[in-house]
Amino acid sequence: MLILSIESSCDETACAVVEMDDDKRIIHSSAVFSQIETHALYGGVVPEIASREHIEKVSSVIHEAFEKSGFEPRDMDAVAVTYSPGLIGSLLVGLSFAKSLALSLDVPLIPVDHIKGHTAAAYLAYPDLEAPFLSLIVSGGHTSIYKVTTPTDFEEIGATRDDAAGEAFDKVGRIMGLPYPGGAAMDKLAHEGKKLKSEGAKFTRRFPSPAINDETLDFSFSGLKTFAVNTIHTERQRLSLEKHEELPFEFRAEIAACFTESVVSGIVSKLEAAIKETGFKTVVLAGGVAANSHLREGISKLAERMGVRLCIPPISLCGDNGAMIGAQGYFEFKKGIRADSSLNAFASEEGALHASKTGSDGIYHV
Ligand code: KG4
Ligand code: ZN
Repeated sequence: MLILSIESSCDETACAVVEMDDDKRIIHSSAVFSQIETHALYGGVVPEIASREHIEKVSSVIHEAFEKSGFEPRDMDAVAVTYSPGLIGSLLVGLSFAKSLALSLDVPLIPVDHIKGHTAAAYLAYPDLEAPFLSLIVSGGHTSIYKVTTPTDFEEIGATRDDAAGEAFDKVGRIMGLPYPGGAAMDKLAHEGKKLKSEGAKFTRRFPSPAINDETLDFSFSGLKTFAVNTIHTERQRLSLEKHEELPFEFRAEIAACFTESVVSGIVSKLEAAIKETGFKTVVLAGGVAANSHLREGISKLAERMGVRLCIPPISLCGDNGAMIGAQGYFEFKKGIRADSSLNAFASEEGALHASKTGSDGIYHV
């Protein structure tokens, strides 16, 4: 079936045309407009500006997706849309557009959870991938491990208790004056730090682990983030730097490398525990931070050591995109999930869950 999918949960307006069937997983087109340049001025996503940019761009992004796909709107069998979690104003833009499209094309509207969507990117990259598997989602808003027993049944078995990994990367990058968003720049800089270390540089600072030291599979990134931020401020003071003056390259490279190493080893240790606990033989790594080369390497080594299959979508499918929403939409559709015109958007999973319990979410089962 051909699905038009729309994603607008944060600062990317994205749309795709995918074709999904039992033995088919094709991306015919995927158009993404990123608002990074706008939010870079503020050092972070400004929710109201994000909604306004979505409303300006959603129509042209959808046109672009159709044009690239070679299909017409009337060829679509369904419209899938992200309805939770995310910035409420941003979600509402994509949701309203998707509702009107589904109505005018007279096709079903499929509500999709953004996190399940990130996981579904793996089905597009690995057409033979099948549940059950573990899904590790590491993004700007989430760091969670899920037991995925069917494509639509997710059980969270570990999660961050405070900041997400992406949020911590961005904050540390910003404090060091790296380009926004800090994640990708920290990735590059950490390679420089590793190189310095291999050439004999001594890194003596001990960064705290984000893996909580207990029986759970939970994380906490706030201690690690605060340690990095304080270390940076202390170094600026020690060197009596003016606001506009940059920290020395070697120091920045050390922070990026040590911070990243701590993130990677913390995530690897909890994932290892999750694999042992569940006995699952396949792991999916997805979400924006799954683009991080050090994390990809660390998890690949773990998978090799433990003899599990690892599925990591290509970088283009790790960050927010429409294709992943279309892929998950297919499985939701197969399960009989539809939305009516009262479908609402929910900023948090808890909000969506509460609404579904009270029957006020506009979602039903056929
Ligand atoms: O999944 P995503 O596109 O949006 C959310 O749903 O949050 O993730 C965005 C996050 C940002 O924090 C960004 O800095 C981070 O992914 N990110 C990275 C890398 N590329 C993107 N973090 C670390 N290393 C990267 N290479
Ligand atoms: Zn995301």
